[in-house]
Parts: sequence; C-alpha cells; structure tokens
Amino acid sequence: MQMRHWLQCPSTITHGNIIKREIFSKKTPDISGNEGAILNHIDSFSRCYLEPRISSIPTSFDDRQLIFYIVGGKGLFEAGDMKREVQEGDGIIVPPGLSHILTNTVTIPLELLILEETISEETELVRQEAIIRNYREKPLSQGHWTHLVHPLFGKDDGLIKTHAILVVRIEAMQTPDTHGHGSNIDEVWYMLEGNGIHVVGRDVYRQRPGGAVSVAPSNPGHSLINDTEEPLVTFYFANYG
Ligand SMILES: [Fe+2]
Repeated sequence: MQMRHWLQCPSTITHGNIIKREIFSKKTPDISGNEGAILNHIDSFSRCYLEPRISSIPTSFDDRQLIFYIVGGKGLFEAGDMKREVQEGDGIIVPPGLSHILTNTVTIPLELLILEETISEETELVRQEAIIRNYREKPLSQGHWTHLVHPLFGKDDGLIKTHAILVVRIEAMQTPDTHGHGSNIDEVWYMLEGNGIHVVGRDVYRQRPGGAVSVAPSNPGHSLINDTEEPLVTFYFANYG
C-alpha cells in the first residue's frame, strides 16, 4: 500500500484534546489490522487538529520526540519558559521529557501534522529545549529538475530517526525526474496544497490535499508530476537508511 488519505485512518486522541488520525506507522511483526504500518524507521506520522479555542493538556513523553508541523490556523505553543505564537508553515521539535501545551487561539481549527521518533538508551539527544522554525526561514534550493525545496529540519536540529523534513513546491505543469529508492528507507510525501499525479513504480495516484504517498521501494522510480494549472505544495520527510 503506497497511498493513504487521513480520512481513511482511525481516529484517536492525544494530548488530552488533539484529535489524531495516524496515517503511517512503523512496521510491526503482526501487521493485521493496521494497514498503515509500513515505515521502516520512523515511528508514526499523523494528521491532527485542535478545535477552536481549546488547549491540549500539559503532556510530555519520556520515550519519544515529537515534531509538529502547523498546516493551518493559529495557536500558542508553551514549554517551560517558551511561549510562542505558531501558524501555518511553522515546525516545532519537542524533545523527549519536555512538557508542552498547544492552544488553538482562534475560531477555526488548528490543523497540524505530528511525526514521532522513539528513543532508546543509546540515543544521544542534541537538545532539551523545543525549537520552532518556519520553513520560509531557510533558503530555497532546487533538485530533481523541478523540486523547489525549503528545508525545515535536519539531523543538526536534533532529529533522531528522520534525516530530512522539507516543504517541497512544484510549479504548474512541471515534472520532476524519475528516480528510485530501495526498500529500507522511509520517504513520504503529504499533499498540503494543489494536486498532482504521483507515479510510484507501475502505480499511479492522483494525490490531493490530505493524501500521503510512501515511495519506498520504488522501482524503477517515482515522480510527482504537477499536471495542473496551479502550484502544488507538499510536506516531505525521509530516513535514507
Ligand atoms: Fe524520491
């Protein structure tokens, strides 16, 4: 299974009040009943939201690091002495053990993505404080012919199992090159805005907002083609094995 939309995924609650739809999770020996358990390294990827004017309860996890990405709405992130407004395009790394609260401060839902990375006793933690950054703060680069790439977070920022988190834009009527990936990596594309055709091996997906495509393995390759008159914008994360 390569593509999953968050609407197909079961609903759970995290942080007291955050409604969570887990799209993909790490493979387990028994995969029955969990269609999204396809990742090799990264533990969990979810689309979540917080209802208007609602706060999460103070939450910390000793065994995992969380990465939030704000898709839409406005909120307040609090952890220790840190109190920061957050909005569309902001990423937040929440290290293990850090108690934090997220509040939706406006009258529309606060939509976010959450990545989870579990830690072991050997894990060396780079940071103890949260880091917040908007993807627009990093310089733009280009790859695979037509990917316009904004790095959001990398290993230097303290990611544990994820090697890169990017926001990738592809302009109207553009095709990236076709390149392949082995079966021991994680590479996931989640559509934020616009839509395109994602070719993965011999499979073809119309990828619309809220749909995630996993491209490992892809033989001979994959390519997210924008065949529309509007740009498309994706949230990308990967572990390169
Ligand atoms: Fe790729």
